[in-house]
Amino acid sequence: MTTMPPNATGEVAVLGCGLMGAALARTLVRHGHSVVAWNRTHERAAALASDGVVALRDVAAAADRARVVILCLNDYEATHSVLTQVDDWRGRVVINLTSGTPGEAQAAGQWFGERDVPYLDGTIFCYPEDIGGQEALLAYAGASSTWHAVRPLLESLGPAPLHVGVDVRAANILLMGGSMFYLPAMVACTEMATYLHGQGISPEFGLRVMRMFARNLVTATGEIQTAIVNGNHRSDRATIDTYAHVDQPIADELARAGQRAPVVTAAARLLSDGQAAGMGGLGPSALSDLLAEASRRGEPVVKKPVGARVSSALSSP
Ligand SMILES: NC(=O)c1ccc[n+]([C@@H]2O[C@H](COP(=O)([O-])OP(=O)(O)OC[C@H]3O[C@@H](n4cnc5c(N)ncnc54)[C@H](OP(=O)(O)O)[C@@H]3O)[C@@H](O)[C@H]2O)c1
Repeated sequence: MTTMPPNATGEVAVLGCGLMGAALARTLVRHGHSVVAWNRTHERAAALASDGVVALRDVAAAADRARVVILCLNDYEATHSVLTQVDDWRGRVVINLTSGTPGEAQAAGQWFGERDVPYLDGTIFCYPEDIGGQEALLAYAGASSTWHAVRPLLESLGPAPLHVGVDVRAANILLMGGSMFYLPAMVACTEMATYLHGQGISPEFGLRVMRMFARNLVTATGEIQTAIVNGNHRSDRATIDTYAHVDQPIADELARAGQRAPVVTAAARLLSDGQAAGMGGLGPSALSDLLAEASRRGEPVVKKPVGARVSSALSSP
């Protein structure tokens, strides 16, 4: 059981003044908070002086003045190297907005738990210029008491912060899930743009089509999530058969155009697997059963846990 400070007001320390950390520090000042900042390369913190941020050269000096400490660094390895520069973190709430894996968040949560320090692990889903604005999306995970103590402060960074769960891994799980969509979608955008450009179609038309698809994808995400939760994959809109029909024409067209498109090719392969498994008449959410199958059978789904190296660094005393 960690000891909460009586309240989480007072000075805020921002550790890490890169693109995102600088945006966090500036925004907090704009909302009336006193902000001290530290950055490994001091000039980046000092550059925030004109915004009203007090730049300090020492992590411990910044932490000493703060009731809330926000970390925003490259990765959890950098986070660990900064954390170990302070002997005793007690008396503060620490919020780590560095992106990472669920395992890294868990190791960090354990590190702070062992030191009796209230800790939230967060993830930022928007760009630095969105911070503080209506579009800002930041998610946090950790004990409800800690969340409630700092929520008013966190509302300065975005008006609707999400508390994803008391499990400290939750925000990074949301990041992993979001990335599973966003990364292939980015590559798929590039596949589309390469093809359209190669075929002499104006980018303006590609954008028009994407706007419609993006809207439909938001609806589809809601439907797919509901279907997976309920286990009901019937669809009166489009089935796996409907989507799989496009597979061969796309493959033929790519061959004609002389273009690779690995994302759509992988998607087509999964749809074919769904058909082969007798799911053709169901909605695409049914593919979830194929995706989850590996873990049910106890098969390894990835060769090596990505966060293993840093997690062990954080769990060392
Ligand atoms: N920028 C975005 O659009 C965006 C969006 C969502 C989430 N994020 C997340 O925000 C975090 C910060 O990103 P950023 O865009 O601010 O990156 P950035 O501009 O590259 O800044 C990285 C920060 O990490 C510090 N750092 C790196 N290695 C360090 C070490 N070993 N010890 C101490 N400090 C170290 C850097 O210090 P120096 O200045 O000394 O190098 C700098 O303050 C990342 O986890 C990123 O995924 C960023």
